[in-house]
Amino acid sequence: MAEVDLLRSLPHTTRDVQKRAADKDETVVAIAKQFGEMYWDGPRQYGYGGYRYDGRWRAVARDIIAHFGLCPGMRVLDVGCGKGFLVKDLMLECPGLEAFGLDISLYALMHCEKAVVGRLHLGSADKLPFPDRSFDCALSINTVHNFPRPRAIQAMREIQRVSGGRAFVQVDSYLTPEQKEIFESWVLTAEFHDYPEGWLNLFRESGYTGDYYWTIID
Ligand SMILES: C[S@@+](CC[C@H](N)C(=O)[O-])C[C@H]1O[C@@H](n2cnc3c(N)ncnc32)[C@H](O)[C@@H]1O
Repeated sequence: MAEVDLLRSLPHTTRDVQKRAADKDETVVAIAKQFGEMYWDGPRQYGYGGYRYDGRWRAVARDIIAHFGLCPGMRVLDVGCGKGFLVKDLMLECPGLEAFGLDISLYALMHCEKAVVGRLHLGSADKLPFPDRSFDCALSINTVHNFPRPRAIQAMREIQRVSGGRAFVQVDSYLTPEQKEIFESWVLTAEFHDYPEGWLNLFRESGYTGDYYWTIID
């Protein structure tokens, strides 16, 4: 297992944490957790506030391809692929790479990029409908924290099972009590979150041997 910042090329996101905290209540959280239209393309208080393809994942795709030495003909799975932006960009950056995605959001899959139609599966990260080691690499970005801890462990086991451990997972975390407080004001959908050490314990419990990094809001 190695800590590696494969999302380092993404532009910095500006967040109005105070507004999010003021707007947040049980109803908003419940709606966000449906991962439906309101989460993706509704007002910002429910999630993304409009999530459209703008090519920002291409540089990330390049870094992932270089890190794992991905080549045409290899198979990659993005667990929690949303609308399939990274799946599309992996194939643009490495023509011939066989990239696929899986997500629980029917809305996201029904509003995916044309280039990935037929490549995205509806399902849950803790029950991947694929044979053991059927992918050369598995990715999961900002998704596993949407489970309570026992199911997060199961999702990590699944990522390990389908990839043989050639994988990258990024999850919500924080390094200081101040960052934890900011995160708790901002968070809508995460069910489990922890300091890196807590996540590393969870990874070890699951038998995960792939790489990882943290999404930290500051
Ligand atoms: C913060 S978004 C990240 C999307 C994308 N990976 C990205 O980084 O832009 C969280 C994603 O997790 C998906 N998700 C939530 N629960 C899930 C589950 N049980 N199985 C698979 N995907 C899930 C959501 O639908 C959403 O696409």
